[in-house]
Amino acid sequence: MSTTSTVPVTGRSRVSGATGRTAVPVVVAQARRRRSFAVISHPDAGKSTLTEALALHAHVLSRAGAVNGKDGRGGTVSDWMDIERERGISITSAALQFTYRDTVINLVDTPGHADFSEDTYRVLSAVDAAVMLVDAAKGLEVQTMKLFEVCKHRNIPIITVINKWDRPGREALDLMDEISERTGLQPAPLNWPVGIAGDFRGVLDMLTGEYLKFTRTDGGATVAPEAHLSAEAAEALEGEAWLRAVEESDLIVATGAGHDPEGFLAATSTPVMFGSAVLNFGVRFLLDTLVDLAPAPGARPDADGQLRGIDSPFSAFVFKIQAGMNVAHRDRLAFIRVCSGIFERGMVVTHAGTNRPFATKYAQHVMGRERTSLDIAFPGDVVGLVNANALRVGDTLYVDEPVTFPPIPSFSPEHFAVARAKDSSRYKQFRRGIEQLDHEGVVQVLRSDLRGDQAPVLAAVGPMQFEVAEHRMAGEFNSPISLDRLEYSLARRTDDEGRERLSGQRAVEVLTRSDGVLLAVFSDRWRLQSVQRDLPDIMLAPLVVSL
Ligand code: G4P
Repeated sequence: MSTTSTVPVTGRSRVSGATGRTAVPVVVAQARRRRSFAVISHPDAGKSTLTEALALHAHVLSRAGAVNGKDGRGGTVSDWMDIERERGISITSAALQFTYRDTVINLVDTPGHADFSEDTYRVLSAVDAAVMLVDAAKGLEVQTMKLFEVCKHRNIPIITVINKWDRPGREALDLMDEISERTGLQPAPLNWPVGIAGDFRGVLDMLTGEYLKFTRTDGGATVAPEAHLSAEAAEALEGEAWLRAVEESDLIVATGAGHDPEGFLAATSTPVMFGSAVLNFGVRFLLDTLVDLAPAPGARPDADGQLRGIDSPFSAFVFKIQAGMNVAHRDRLAFIRVCSGIFERGMVVTHAGTNRPFATKYAQHVMGRERTSLDIAFPGDVVGLVNANALRVGDTLYVDEPVTFPPIPSFSPEHFAVARAKDSSRYKQFRRGIEQLDHEGVVQVLRSDLRGDQAPVLAAVGPMQFEVAEHRMAGEFNSPISLDRLEYSLARRTDDEGRERLSGQRAVEVLTRSDGVLLAVFSDRWRLQSVQRDLPDIMLAPLVVSL
């Protein structure tokens, strides 16, 4: 198959609204039927539960519990590392792909803990939309706010799901006010709950005015049946609860908070829906919303700002590297997001960083622990490349027409520790391990002549990243390390002159990151301010986004 072959598209195209018979390239037709998104939330809002429920609806799983079955709900897919098991958190990500209404849904999982928000950020660079879960009782929490900010910064359209409506929680109107006041996004409800939080009966579909009545199933482990009722039937059945939903949704319509497709795509408005992931209520509605409203993959700007259209020759970038995902496969997997063209397993692509050819014989589709060979992929899809030792996070791969996508910005680290091999005779293993953790983005690795290569400084956004590094160094690279925490909490970008002039200053140090960037690290904000006062003309630039 080549990118120039065409397929006839008949009938009404859902995406373009075009009618008639048009021939479009295969790659364009395939991209149009793809939706790639991530579920994001403050921890415990129900991300893993919703992931299971989505897959369940798509009939990937016959019963919930196979994706990330916490607390014995079933086998696990993303809880493969010991730390994850011990802590009951998910650090590593799984990519699920399933077909729903003839649309290929790519759901890229994100880690649940705030310490790994840098990883979440990388995943967000690979998706076209995000589903933000909000706990109905807690409203917007710390991590919810940070994630809203990141999405806004990157123009990622967000669909907001008010989750756990089956439990007592806040008033629906109150939650809408909070979203609009605290995020600056206009909430545009697509459905409205019938029954207050804790008495979830169904939703009023704001588009059709119909009542979607949900039925509980045993433990939420199977798809929850839904009945579509007219407004009259709903009133007869639910009485006061229905009338209240009608009244409140009328109020919403009167304030002009209807769905705003342009605002959604520009990340200024967010469609909102109510649901209960644990009961599978509203999950089908969410899937329909993704298919109907979320954007299909489109042209992407390269590092020079030029758009690479989806019908250009194959291109992709690495957004995640994961090692040790499965004890049976102690290998290194690079996850790429296809941006243009068609990926075919076995094709030889060019690695933009080195201009070297890269063979893709072992391309895989990775769904948690399950791995299957992947033969073909289109824009929006995620491909796992096995033993991709030469690849780093952010690298571009292409064929024919060279392209380099912009690097994925790294976060400003807030935790620093010196790493040393516990057994100095294992220095080779130590060096290899540290280098690999750096390539994967598990931690940032900083060096200075003063400290030497034997004692690199590991920098992290969240301290749990250090635990992962320690664990992996001992278990995977056979080089246990000791970590001595440093009293720094802040980093700024500087240059050669800055390095020179900062040398000898108290509670300040300049280190070189592996990408060559010079980082000046400070004990705290006050120290930074006093340095800025004393040396006003040296470069001390904030690092991109800081969560
Ligand atoms: P996370 O990935 O965002 O961290 O959240 P996760 O899915 O693990 O859910 C956190 C807790 O919230 C779990 O309870 C889960 O069952 C519960 N939960 C998720 N969605 C809903 C919902 O719609 N309604 C209600 N009532 N609860 C929900 P847990 O006690 O930690 O674990 P479990 O023993 O219930 O599995």
